[in-house]
Amino acid sequence: MRIVSLGVKNFRNLKTQTIQFFDGLNVLCGKNAQGKTNTLEAIYLSTIGKSPKTRRDGEMISFSHGHLETLLKFEHFGNTKTIKLDINHKQKSVFLNDNKLKKLSDVIGNFGSVYFSPEELNLIKAGPSTRRRFLDIILCQQDKAYLKDLQTFQRIIMQRNALLKKENPQKEVFVWNKSLCEISKRIFKKRKSFLKILSEMAKDIHKKLTENKEELEISYVSELNEQNLLNLESEFERTFEKDLVLGYTTFGIQNDDLNFKINKKDVKKHASQGQQRTVVLSLKLAEMEILKKEYGDYPVLLLDDVLSELDAARREKLCDYLNLFQCILTCTEFDLNLKHQKFLVEDGLVTKI
Ligand SMILES: Nc1ncnc2c1ncn2[C@@H]1O[C@H](COP(=O)(O)OP(=O)(O)O)[C@@H](O)[C@H]1O
Ligand SMILES: [Mg+2]
Repeated sequence: MRIVSLGVKNFRNLKTQTIQFFDGLNVLCGKNAQGKTNTLEAIYLSTIGKSPKTRRDGEMISFSHGHLETLLKFEHFGNTKTIKLDINHKQKSVFLNDNKLKKLSDVIGNFGSVYFSPEELNLIKAGPSTRRRFLDIILCQQDKAYLKDLQTFQRIIMQRNALLKKENPQKEVFVWNKSLCEISKRIFKKRKSFLKILSEMAKDIHKKLTENKEELEISYVSELNEQNLLNLESEFERTFEKDLVLGYTTFGIQNDDLNFKINKKDVKKHASQGQQRTVVLSLKLAEMEILKKEYGDYPVLLLDDVLSELDAARREKLCDYLNLFQCILTCTEFDLNLKHQKFLVEDGLVTKI
């Protein structure tokens, strides 16, 4: 799949324009604060319905404007389709080929993109929620039923937590336990089997990126396990007193996490900055392979400012992958040995050069 063009209006500092992209490698170059990251954000937003940077959609609307629009034109197996977004401070609309979809998240599954920026190091450094989000975004793209389960799960947890703060909530809280268990089991099983595939793939890629020097191990950390899965309701009953004291649901898949090791050592504690970056890169390239299986073709890779942070050897290895799919890459200087189309980004305007 490939992006044909991106149209933007009132999107952060970007000027109203339509950018035509090329198959293969597109390099957006420019000084700081010109709109390179904003361009990638607009693309990612169009494909997932979410910004990679912020949870507050209104932030992306250009200062002093009331709404933003994006129009992504893409091609998949010879079919050209469009995804149009219109976001104002009150509501968000999304259209696939001019047909209005119900929710922003309904856009997921039409076009795949994988985003990688220096901030993605948070995948290792930040708390578990960042890692769950990474996992969930891939799973939601693969599996509509998973997306639905996840949304229902979040709603149930919110309602359950609200009840826990009331007086004598036991009866009402226990009513929720049954559906909580069913959904938790499904999510757990899907996360677990997905992790198996992801870790195998990332391990192979990481080996190639490090010339066989490093063995990456990714494991799934969950309070659920094959034993307590058999009687999950009793786990929720067992932790009820604690939930009551703390005022939220303490046990469950909302605490799931991932753990990374290189050559048996914990990455968060022992790996260098460069190694951590390579782990994230391996994960992102594994995500490309997994989404390829899903869509039948590679998604688009969005690389924001990451080349300059890799050492020459790893950069070269990464470049081997860049021939495989369409990639949109940002940097401050053109210094690539690969065949690519150049764009200059200046004061919110992206021009082909
Ligand atoms: N909502 C907004 N409206 C207008 N400009 C914005 C908005 N949000 C961010 N900006 C501006 O966008 C610029 C940053 O663009 P960015 O794409 O991050 O730059 P870079 O080219 O360094 O990646 C900054 O000057 C910032 O002030
Ligand atoms: Mg930037």
